[in-house]
Amino acid sequence: MKRIIVINGPNLNMLGVREPGIYGTLSLKDIEDKIRRQADELGVSIAFYQSNHEGDIIDRIHAAMGEAEGIILNAGAFTHYSYAIRDAINAVKVPTVEVHLSNIHAREAFRHHSVIAAETIGQIAGFGEVSYELGLLALVRHLDKQT
Ligand code: DQA
Repeated sequence: MKRIIVINGPNLNMLGVREPGIYGTLSLKDIEDKIRRQADELGVSIAFYQSNHEGDIIDRIHAAMGEAEGIILNAGAFTHYSYAIRDAINAVKVPTVEVHLSNIHAREAFRHHSVIAAETIGQIAGFGEVSYELGLLALVRHLDKQT
């Protein structure tokens, strides 16, 4: 069974409370519950991790090597400036899909650029919690093609 880890970065533990007009009213737990149900349907095993700390996210990405076949990553604001997270994805070579709840390209200029995108299979942004669903589906389809 393919193992996928969903990693969420800073402030995503505040979903539901934080700017609901942009990020929606679901909590991170609500979103994780939906992803868990979808993972069951797709027949993949799923684990979740959230941290507000760059180094902890990097450690979790490193730990994914040999432990997971794929990563779904919403690095939050680190997306826009963390070369260290970008390097971690490159180091482990675990196929990664970048997801964002909001359409980062339609927001403030500093959000338009993702420094991690080039190390990922692809990016899904702008569909609220559905971005995670689409990300998981895309990742599983990608992994199916590899095997
Ligand atoms: C986000 C977009 C980022 O710009 C922002 O800093 C976040 C959330 C999103 O999911 O839309 O924390 O990654």
